Amino acid sequence: MTAKSSDLDEESKQLLTDLMDPEIDMVAILKDELLPGLPLPTDVFLKLSNGKYVLLAKAGTKSSLGELHVSQSDQVSAFYIRRNDYLLAVEQNLKIAGILARRNDIPVPRRSLFLRTAAASVFKEMEYTGVHAKAISHSKQVVGALCTLVQSRNDYFQVVSAIHELPGNAMKEALAGAALCVLIARELGWQQQTNVEKLALGAFVRDVGLKEIPPEIVAKERLYMTAEERSTWETHSFRGAEILQAIADTPPEVIAIAMEHHENALGQGFPQRLRDIKMHPYAKIVCLIDAFVALTIPGPGKTNVKNHNQAMLHIELAMGCPYNKAIVVALKRALGIDTVNMNNDGFGMSEAA
Ligand SMILES: [Fe+2]
Repeated sequence: MTAKSSDLDEESKQLLTDLMDPEIDMVAILKDELLPGLPLPTDVFLKLSNGKYVLLAKAGTKSSLGELHVSQSDQVSAFYIRRNDYLLAVEQNLKIAGILARRNDIPVPRRSLFLRTAAASVFKEMEYTGVHAKAISHSKQVVGALCTLVQSRNDYFQVVSAIHELPGNAMKEALAGAALCVLIARELGWQQQTNVEKLALGAFVRDVGLKEIPPEIVAKERLYMTAEERSTWETHSFRGAEILQAIADTPPEVIAIAMEHHENALGQGFPQRLRDIKMHPYAKIVCLIDAFVALTIPGPGKTNVKNHNQAMLHIELAMGCPYNKAIVVALKRALGIDTVNMNNDGFGMSEAA
């Protein structure tokens, strides 16, 4: 491990020699997770091949991890911070994303990057510290910034383009799904911002139950799961609803979305095989966007990612369009998708729960 000594102040240089015990509880962070140009909210460490940690920069140091020019040798796998400090990084990212989302003078792609960082932080907060009231409150802040940012189809495209580099699939699909919900709600004429934010929050946390499913099952495409793996995987919607229900003040709409986001209008979904008329109105939207972003957002283990038109054709023709027709039409209008003509005479849709 080497770091350019000219990039570090004297105190940090001294501390570079202090090694931490590997037993101390540390968590990995992405290089761009601590926003550049701001004082680091926590001490940042490198992990050595012997399992020990070495302090790279102290809290308060105004530097970017990307500028520290740490050697990418085999000995350095990632940056680390103390698990107990993770909240400080999350809160800094949320604060910046919330402020910047309202700054129309800053281009959307730039604001999207800050939002991506904040969303990734909140996802990792849930992974590291569990799903609790604070994490849901942080999710609300991300969604609030997202609702401000996504004003048009073009904004959605730019948010989605910014999230492609995030690791894994769950984080990307959560953020893309929430952004798409904002567009669909607008297309459906929803007037109440609080309703739009509850819908987007539900989309953002819809898969929290996956935390309890073995990662090797989560990583598989559904097509390749055994019957047993599939039934284990399908418990995530019920379990997600239970996790959210246990957190005080979680809006009932958000719990309903977690429970019903794999149902469909024809009663062929899970866990309850609800038909459209029995489904929560918000879940009718999220079950469609869940399928749509799964088809269109690239990620590990995905072999056949489709563009928007191809995805809609797949939903309409291959899947037989098992979704609320009014919402399908709203999605097509929101993204300018031009596929086969659909009769808009299916199930109705209203904003009220
Ligand atoms: Fe799911």
